[in-house]
Amino acid sequence: MTLRLFVPADAGALAVGGDEVAHALQVAANRRKVSIEIVRTGSRGLYWLEPMVETVASAGRSAYGPVTAADAESVLDAALGGDDKHPLHLGRPEDVAFLKTQTRLTFARCGIVDPRSLDDYRAHDGGKGLGRALQMPPASVIEEVTQSGLRGRGGAGFPTGIKWKTVADTAADQKYIVCNADEGDSGTYADRMIMEGDPFVLIEGMTIAGIAVGATQGFVYVRSEYPRAIAVLNDAIRAARRGGMLGRDIAGSSFAFDLEVRVGAGAYVCGEETSLLDSLEGKRGVVRAKPPLPAHKGLFGMPTVINNVLSLASVPIILEKGAAFYRDFGMGRSRGTMPIQLAGNVKYPGLYETAFGITLGELVDGIGGGTRSGRPVRAVQVGGPLGAYFPRSLFHLPFDYEAFAKADGLIGHGGVVVFDDTVDMAKQARFAMEFCAIESCGKCTPCRVGSTRGVEVIDRIIRNHNRADNTALLEDLCHTMKFGSLCALGGFTPYPVMSALTHFPEDFGAPPKLQAAE
Ligand SMILES: Cc1cc2nc3c(=O)[nH]c(=O)nc-3n(C[C@H](O)[C@H](O)[C@H](O)COP(=O)(O)O)c2cc1C
Ligand code: SF4
Repeated sequence: MTLRLFVPADAGALAVGGDEVAHALQVAANRRKVSIEIVRTGSRGLYWLEPMVETVASAGRSAYGPVTAADAESVLDAALGGDDKHPLHLGRPEDVAFLKTQTRLTFARCGIVDPRSLDDYRAHDGGKGLGRALQMPPASVIEEVTQSGLRGRGGAGFPTGIKWKTVADTAADQKYIVCNADEGDSGTYADRMIMEGDPFVLIEGMTIAGIAVGATQGFVYVRSEYPRAIAVLNDAIRAARRGGMLGRDIAGSSFAFDLEVRVGAGAYVCGEETSLLDSLEGKRGVVRAKPPLPAHKGLFGMPTVINNVLSLASVPIILEKGAAFYRDFGMGRSRGTMPIQLAGNVKYPGLYETAFGITLGELVDGIGGGTRSGRPVRAVQVGGPLGAYFPRSLFHLPFDYEAFAKADGLIGHGGVVVFDDTVDMAKQARFAMEFCAIESCGKCTPCRVGSTRGVEVIDRIIRNHNRADNTALLEDLCHTMKFGSLCALGGFTPYPVMSALTHFPEDFGAPPKLQAAE
């Protein structure tokens, strides 16, 4: 009998020895003359347990982690003998608290399936959304996405169905679907996990988008720092073509759709949709003025849907189970689930997919277990480098687009970076301006010049040089950047700066803020 073992080959698992563990397990099996099959999966997203090795037991999967190459012999013996006393034995992965309390819709297969096998994808319910979409008129597919309440997971939270309808309603000989896989936000890795762990769900989502709006060609724009994701995605695209999920006559229908992966050279601003389109066209990535919207004139001047990986990867389950199923999760105008990524100084870093509405405190103190350093949590930055820093006094905030906007913050792509009490918030504010100065595309003055002036003003505040005047100047500069910048790089940099100044004034040499004033 052959023992099946599942060893993640996700970049996160590889970084901590995933390949070495797989090799050591094979060597140990050869020595014992037992037959094993090692399936290289993506990650379940429980990164402090990687490499997490799974085997098939009578009650489903059984996991061990974190496994090193030195543990391979004993882990294999335990797996062969069904011994659950091994010190690294975790039981059923679904019973690990971090996973048990999640609602995995978009990430349902991630870490479970062989990401390069279309058969495995289909064996785990993959392809059903596309099957249903092919039975519906394209306008009904768009209506289903609109009714689900899905909003863009790339940052802006724009309703996906409305974007698709705009493209569908714009007449053109050629339309495009562009997937934004630039994933430049600090502390984010959900797009990478999908591309490395369940790429067919993205391919299926893009194909459904193509059918819905009348586009026959798609591009996935991936950052060059994701070589593993690029390789897995390309293999999956080839398998999808062979299996009839891409190409002419998709699944025997009259629809055609194909996909290509394009690799970005690595600029944060190339994640901004119009800059990305320039980059895709072979130009330097510079932000375009809107209008025209990409939905009217996008890639090569043609109507283009541009969506984040997670937005597109959420479409198959919406089509499979219906809009109402998806819409039933969440709160307010934030419907469905959000794959939240816990990172930074956190005890349990990982991907936590849950319905909107969970509070920051539940996430950071509960699910994340506080800091890895064991010191008190002082601040969390949510939504990448353009997101606000929140103090503990705002930990009651629910994960909801509108609640975060009301608190002068943003959910963005769902990255949560945790800091302990050793963080210097004036330095963090300076870093936000410096980051903007380095990454600015240079097209507009408030961002190009303002960010450099911002670094200088914060430096003067830190040196206690005319602190009151310079603090007022910083506030004025942030106001100009917020309202005068062409895109959100310059426009949102004031969020981390102003939140640091507002919530942590003592780090800028001012009296501490009273808790009750929050
Ligand atoms: C500076 C900047 C960087 C951005 N980076 C990304 C990114 O890496 N990935 C992404 O999906 N969206 C990014 N966005 C948002 C995109 O402009 C756009 O809103 C998104 O791709 C639309 O897809 P969605 O509606 O599915 O979210 C960025 C925006 C700005 C201003
Ligand atoms: S805000 Fe910055 S990145 Fe955006 S268009 Fe202006 S200069 Fe370019």
